[in-house]
Amino acid sequence: MANWTKIDQTVKRWIQEAGANIRASFTDSLTIQAKSNPNDLVTNVDKETERFFIENIRSQFPDHQILGEEGQGDNVQSLQGVIWIIDPIDGTMNFVHQQRNFAISIGIYEDGIGQLGYIYDIVHDELYHAMKGQGAWMNDTPLKKLEKVPVETAVLGISATWLINNRHFDQNKLVQLAKDVRGTRSYGSAALELAYVASGRLSGYITMRNAPWDFAGGKMIVEEAGGIVSTINGGEIDMLSVNPVFAAAPGLHEALLKKYLL
Ligand code: IPD
Ligand code: CA
Ligand code: CA
Repeated sequence: MANWTKIDQTVKRWIQEAGANIRASFTDSLTIQAKSNPNDLVTNVDKETERFFIENIRSQFPDHQILGEEGQGDNVQSLQGVIWIIDPIDGTMNFVHQQRNFAISIGIYEDGIGQLGYIYDIVHDELYHAMKGQGAWMNDTPLKKLEKVPVETAVLGISATWLINNRHFDQNKLVQLAKDVRGTRSYGSAALELAYVASGRLSGYITMRNAPWDFAGGKMIVEEAGGIVSTINGGEIDMLSVNPVFAAAPGLHEALLKKYLL
């Protein structure tokens, strides 16, 4: 049986160390490469940070598996056992262009069930974290349980990408939704947007394409804060593939599904 309290203390130590290294890199020049397309970026700092976690996990928890965005972990094919799902820098474009609005994101799952979740906003020194059944926190402050939010006062995280013609979803439905809510925001880091849903800074977040490392930490934290995370149709998220992701406060989740998404 895994000792989650001990693992939690260890992860928090590693996250602080990785965060300090990333902060120290701000004055260095970056090596930037494009991956699947010219706007899908990776830097030497993304790769070094992923390697830092992988080396530590392998030495302390050799029987755990690692699914990392930059591909230096394991070729994970099943959710059995303990799996660390890691995005060393979520919001790499922001990291490169702005040096803010990016985060380290880690979700630790056992047999497909989230046990621990972390999103570390390095620049603001805000660590959002959750432990299954124990609740969610921002640093040492417990996050308040999310309350129902009506559509007309909701602030929704959504990228402009999904409000123009796209091959994933009828944008007219989302344009109507964007008109009906109080406001929309786009931060360019799925992990931070999920952390904002968990902490009530956003009432909801909608995207058509997130990979497991984008949402693994955030899903746990939102759920422990009392929010709901599903696919765009209200279905279960598959932790090993790309999914549309819809996270929201209670009440709002049902209302948006019914009126705009189904
Ligand atoms: C990206 C960010 C972005 C989301 C993309 C992700 P990355 O992650 O989370 O907000 O819209 O789908 O790929 O590449 O910066 O780690
Ligand atoms: Ca990401
Ligand atoms: Ca990333």
